[in-house]
Amino acid sequence: MRIGLAYDLKEVINPEADGPEDALEEYDSGETIDLISTAFKSAGHSVVNMGGGADFLLNILRERVDLVFNIAEGRGNYRSREAQVPSVLEMLDIPYSGSDPQCLAICLDKPLTKQLVKDAGIPTPAWHVIDTPEQLSAASWKGLAYPAIIKPAYEGSSKGIHVGSLVSNPEEALEVVGRLIKCYRQPMMLEEFIAGDEVTVGVVGNTPPAVLGMMRIVPKKKVDHFVYSLEVKRDYLEMVDYECPARLEEDVLAEIAASSLKAFTVLGCRDFARLDFRVGPDRIPYFIEVNPLPGLGTYSDLIIMALKLGWRYEELIDTILRAVVKRYPQCVLAR
Ligand SMILES: Nc1ncnc2c1ncn2[C@@H]1O[C@H](COP(=O)(O)OP(=O)(O)OP(=O)(O)O)[C@@H](O)[C@H]1O
Ligand SMILES: [Mg+2]
Repeated sequence: MRIGLAYDLKEVINPEADGPEDALEEYDSGETIDLISTAFKSAGHSVVNMGGGADFLLNILRERVDLVFNIAEGRGNYRSREAQVPSVLEMLDIPYSGSDPQCLAICLDKPLTKQLVKDAGIPTPAWHVIDTPEQLSAASWKGLAYPAIIKPAYEGSSKGIHVGSLVSNPEEALEVVGRLIKCYRQPMMLEEFIAGDEVTVGVVGNTPPAVLGMMRIVPKKKVDHFVYSLEVKRDYLEMVDYECPARLEEDVLAEIAASSLKAFTVLGCRDFARLDFRVGPDRIPYFIEVNPLPGLGTYSDLIIMALKLGWRYEELIDTILRAVVKRYPQCVLAR
């Protein structure tokens, strides 16, 4: 097949002068694009690099491709930015990988995602949303247990999630929420902090989707309230160990797997995704968030997980591609 690659490279995006320091965190490196491209070529496909933004628009109108493999995060700080590329592809009726615009737009909105997941009966930590600095003074801080974590409502890659995001009382919450709303120009979510094991889950496929693996994120230095923060993710080799398969009780793992597949389905995810959970002191796995567009770089949790389970990089990409192709009768793989 002739596969178009849609992606947003860190180096082509100009961050706004007054934006946060981690504004480009979710975007990809050329190395990741090369890895994916090499994987497709080794399976006999040809690859067209289409980039993102206006470059993608020009390329998609100019190039004839059978399918677009999409890892583009989208432009701006809009909550539906991940839906930009898939929306164009649906408009042009071109097959593409991964979840559809509606799913991607929902899942980048953490509070909305949590509401849907909660309605499906999956436990998720209690939360409040503060939309504007003006709401802050009027906000009711009752009913939220501390410590709590403060997170931008529409981000990923731990953007805006630092050591100081953990707050232990309403006064601290007020200060951090006010500061982050200004910096990230979006609502903030205050969420009950679940102290306990962190497990991230890979899901691949559609009919039915299957759990690829479950990986525990273990801090190298024991701390009271571990946060897999931006600082930790940037220095992951020094800061964390990855335990895969996760060594937790059978029933807890079964619960995490079941909740992952249920959330994947309820949210309308397709082809592949990564979901984060925290296991509370009550041993209940709490849904934290889902990434329907998980990173595919060597430093990404999904890839670390797959390699630890004995997959080769190309094998995983091929498996994802096969899930995509199965959805489109017009796409045929040579083998
Ligand atoms: N309610 C919570 N209780 C405990 N820890 C939490 C909670 N919410 C977030 N965290 C910690 O903060 C980290 C980042 O949060 P979250 O996964 O929501 O952010 P993200 O930016 O979407 O992450 P990703 O890089 O996976 O896209 C989590 O991996 C976890 O360590
Ligand atoms: Mg996460």
